[in-house]
Amino acid sequence: MRIAVIPGDGIGIETTAEAVEAVRAVGDVFGHRFDIEKLPWSADHFLRTGITMPPNGYAMLRDDFDAIFIGALGDPRVPDNRHARDILLGIRFELDLYVNYRPVKLLDARLCPLKDRSVADVNFVVFRENTEGLYVGIGGRFKAGTNDEVSIQEELNTYKGVHRIVKHAFEFAKATGRRRVCMADKSNAMTQGHALWQRVLKEVAPQYPGVEARHLYIDALVLLMVQNPAQFDVIVTNNLFGDIITDLGAALQGGLGLAASGNLHPGRTSMFEPVHGSAPPLAGKNVANPIGAILSAALMLESLGLKQEAAAIEAAVQDAVVTGNGTKEIGGSLGTRETGDYIASHVRKSGPDRADVASG
Ligand code: IPM
Ligand code: MN
Repeated sequence: MRIAVIPGDGIGIETTAEAVEAVRAVGDVFGHRFDIEKLPWSADHFLRTGITMPPNGYAMLRDDFDAIFIGALGDPRVPDNRHARDILLGIRFELDLYVNYRPVKLLDARLCPLKDRSVADVNFVVFRENTEGLYVGIGGRFKAGTNDEVSIQEELNTYKGVHRIVKHAFEFAKATGRRRVCMADKSNAMTQGHALWQRVLKEVAPQYPGVEARHLYIDALVLLMVQNPAQFDVIVTNNLFGDIITDLGAALQGGLGLAASGNLHPGRTSMFEPVHGSAPPLAGKNVANPIGAILSAALMLESLGLKQEAAAIEAAVQDAVVTGNGTKEIGGSLGTRETGDYIASHVRKSGPDRADVASG
């Protein structure tokens, strides 16, 4: 299996190294050959060469690789964030990765910032539309920099785009036995664009009689996510709202360092990245939490059909978190590398369930 790895900037470089180590551990234990190719695209690379992504970059990722792993992108030396736009958003758009899959799962009750919550109370997934919305860059600035400046940025909602993400959320619920799907929009104020989300929910929900469909305005959703997150199973929403609520979701599970994501186009080459950013002040200090990156690698393996392998990584992460073998911000005393080593060695000890391998 061929995997493209773009470590990117800042702590992305360090956390990606640990995710790669976990994948290699799985490869050794389960007997898979992972062909891991590192690609240099990053702020450094851009500042050195003037190139964010080579012209054939997207086609190469799509055609030559089975999956893509990205660390994090963002560097104060590139103030307009052009390289992040071309690399991260560019891959989402060009490879048409319309599903941004962000599980929110509390691994240890002590990590939840809410009072008296158990792990069962925080366990839902967010599906964020990933190819349109306010991220398409339609708009412009007129008389920029003057007191007469007018700036416009349009939100794009297409029937195709809204339908496929809402449908995906219901399909996921059905396939995984989750009983509730909540669609969040702002159709009370955005009466044009978000009327389409309303229409699609009404059209798709009845096709899934076993799944309870619900609608919430996005402001009410964030309130309820904090007051009682246990009521959510699957949340589906647009690109920007999904961006915002998945940072809140990360907080509910113990911080950005723990949150994983997959940018998917089911059946095609997809891209995986931790939700955390490049965190320039933490870079190079061996303090960043690699778990979000490692769990993103598990999502990658799962999407490649390697379920048992993904589960082995998840079990290792679970163990590291509950035994305190992690970074400082989750109550441990280990560095990035040591946390990664702990998890990889746990994976190496676990190994495949031979009975399953033999029968499957
Ligand atoms: C994310 C990030 C990106 C986004 C940024 C870096 C453009 O915040 O993946 O959540 O807004 O999508
Ligand atoms: Mn974000």
